[in-house]
Amino acid sequence: MASGRLAVVATAVLIGTIGATGCSASRGDSGATTAVADGSAPGDEMAVEQHQGRAGAAGIGDPDFPNDGNGGYDVGHYRLKIEYDPERKYLSGVTTVEAKATQNLSRFDLDLSGFTVGKVTVNGAAARFSRSGDELVVTPSRTIPDRSAFTVEVTYAGQPKPVRNSPNLGTYGFIPTSDGAFVTSEPNGARTWFPGNDHPADKARYDFEITVPEGVTALANGEQVGSPVTQGGKTTYTWRETHPMASYLATVTMGRFELREGKTASGIKNFAAVDPRYSGSLNELYNQSGKITEYWSKVFGPYPFSSTGGVIDDFPAGYALENQTKPMYGGFNPGDDVIAHELAHQWFGDSLSIRRWKDLWLNEGFATYAEWLWSEHKGNASAERIFRNRYAVDSDAAIWKYAPGRAKPDDLFNDSVYTRGAMTLHALRQRIGDPAFFRLLKTWNAEHRYGYVTTPEFVALAERISGKQLDGLFDAWLFTAKKPTTW
Ligand code: TRP
Ligand code: ZN
Repeated sequence: MASGRLAVVATAVLIGTIGATGCSASRGDSGATTAVADGSAPGDEMAVEQHQGRAGAAGIGDPDFPNDGNGGYDVGHYRLKIEYDPERKYLSGVTTVEAKATQNLSRFDLDLSGFTVGKVTVNGAAARFSRSGDELVVTPSRTIPDRSAFTVEVTYAGQPKPVRNSPNLGTYGFIPTSDGAFVTSEPNGARTWFPGNDHPADKARYDFEITVPEGVTALANGEQVGSPVTQGGKTTYTWRETHPMASYLATVTMGRFELREGKTASGIKNFAAVDPRYSGSLNELYNQSGKITEYWSKVFGPYPFSSTGGVIDDFPAGYALENQTKPMYGGFNPGDDVIAHELAHQWFGDSLSIRRWKDLWLNEGFATYAEWLWSEHKGNASAERIFRNRYAVDSDAAIWKYAPGRAKPDDLFNDSVYTRGAMTLHALRQRIGDPAFFRLLKTWNAEHRYGYVTTPEFVALAERISGKQLDGLFDAWLFTAKKPTTW
């Protein structure tokens, strides 16, 4: 479901010999080496065997994350069957990927980190596979023709290992807890719990079937389908997200939870869950989430999904993530500013997804600016006042040394992306005035609902709506490593 416009990073495909155990592919690790015109080397046995086809790229084409996502196909739907035993910290899963080829495909990758893969089928027939870093390399028994639909089923099991000690992201992905798991995968932790196209430039719909020991609650995106079914000491929960979703926004958070369900003032389903340690916060989470969803619906346009809400777990992450329909708060009681931030992401980041991580300010700058708008709405500090405060920071402060419109893969979620990103929007608001600015926010959302966005598209729309030339403003705020002085 994606991203035809993404230029795929060319990958030199070095194909090994076809041994008795199948195709042992050794691949260029960087994912950005020189291209070979047809993706195959001269005299390449496999290419000859699989005439017309070529291997899908190991990455989707994000220059800052060259191995994230994959090339050659576009996923439309995932069915994730997951059984998890919190005691043994053991997951066994069957993932069904429904995809469409975007080239003649002799071979393709899925992103998967850890686990033992037991079996892979393509269109029901056993396929050969091998592992190479976080790539599960699948060679179907016959080439998949360009533009045709195909189904991959992967059976896998093992102890999930979240991504740890990344420079500034802490631990993310599938994080085992004492009673279940806290699952927040931004930017590329979905691979720690299911095989897929792990990049926001390929969104898909999701069905979840999660089996846990009786007494454990399993939460996922979207809405529950039917009631949980208990049999032989295990309970299976079925959830469905019917709107396109980026892999990093998917969750299967499990544990002991207290629940409150109902509807917001305008009738949107509202679902709140808290770890028993946060019992006292359940009503506040439910009420604030409902109220803020309603408010953003007025400011940004209609709520994009079929339910809203939030989850507080006791894993001490100290952060929150905007999981689609179910923001998660890890080990703290969120104030309304944090809830306002995560719910603003449902419009900016979830309904509208970035094609490349370098455009992250389109998520975090907007969600941070939403906190300022919420403060203003409540009669606390105005956005103007917060802006002035932040702007007063010394001209040699770190925030001015880093241009938020540029990628910083080893420090993706740096403060500049959040704060200077939000200041960019305020500078724009001052320049074009409130009527154009708020029309812009709504139009931006309406035009890209459930789709993909880039910074140049935002700049172009801002110019169209305001009738002003704005490249100077955006250059100074997003692309220059120095404190802007005019806007
Ligand atoms: N997007 C989150 C926020 O600002 C922050 C975040 C980045 C995060 N990476 C994460 C949260 C990984 C959880 C896991 O709202
Ligand atoms: Zn955020």
